[in-house]
Amino acid sequence: MLISADWHLTKEQMASFDGLFYAPPILSLMRESGALLLLGDLTNNGRPAEHEAAARLLEDLSNRTGARILLLPGNHDLPRSGFGPADFEALYRRFGFDGAAGRDPASLSRAVVLRGATYLLLDTCRPGEPRGSVSRETLNWAEAVLKTAPFPVIACAHHPPMAYDAFPPDLPEGGEELAALLARYRVRYCFAGHRHENRLVERGGFRQVTVGMPGVWPCVLWKADDGVAEPVPLLRPGHPRLAAAKEELRAQAFAMGRAILKRRGVDDPRAEGWFEQAYLAAQGMDRDGLARLARDPARTVWQGLGQDSIAVRWILEVTAR
Ligand SMILES: [Fe+2]
Repeated sequence: MLISADWHLTKEQMASFDGLFYAPPILSLMRESGALLLLGDLTNNGRPAEHEAAARLLEDLSNRTGARILLLPGNHDLPRSGFGPADFEALYRRFGFDGAAGRDPASLSRAVVLRGATYLLLDTCRPGEPRGSVSRETLNWAEAVLKTAPFPVIACAHHPPMAYDAFPPDLPEGGEELAALLARYRVRYCFAGHRHENRLVERGGFRQVTVGMPGVWPCVLWKADDGVAEPVPLLRPGHPRLAAAKEELRAQAFAMGRAILKRRGVDDPRAEGWFEQAYLAAQGMDRDGLARLARDPARTVWQGLGQDSIAVRWILEVTAR
């Protein structure tokens, strides 16, 4: 099973999907693997027209590669109004609702048995809100599935249920209970998206894999087969788009840092540079640089002003290790 997250596609990108640099390797991996699981935020804005284009795209990808596709909702897919959970189920019926082995009446959560494994697809979304939640009803339903499901069970959710740093603003309510439940039933892996980064954290044999975006460095999909999970690079080392993806991330980091400083009325090129480097280091691009960034006096500028921003809290936390 191939696993990916957070494609955040606009209508234009869906219309010319094959032109995206990561599309050809994804298509060939889908042909090889025969199954793809998408962990939500397939669309960027969750508008009905975007969803219709997304459903057409998935249909087309599945027909061309022969791969089965399973889809979870993400917070971007379920806006406050205009496209609700019932619309999601009706439109994406083919992608993990039809033929599901179990269905939670309280959410879009489902259990799908595929090639001897049970995929516990957990809907952690609250329409219109970035933060997720897992209700008591859904936990009870998941426990009933876990009691009888053919093993192995692989859990999947848009929001990572387990806290792994001091950056938990979108941690779903009920997330820790869910992680504890999965661990209690010896589920080995829970795959999640939302954070746009690749991280594997382990707690007592339970592993949470946060899956990054395919178009952002290091441009990987994950593979879960035979109880082993591993990242699969979409581009070979030295591929020009790999360098370009790194540059795009760098440009994004720079623009983000500059925008926060501007908003707070600070004009400090050293602080701008520090944010860019720290963001890239936090994404895993320069892990060795973290200690130097922790000592850099420019960090204190961010400590003094950025606590209201999620991104700033995150890089301050990462550079404090
Ligand atoms: Fe998300």
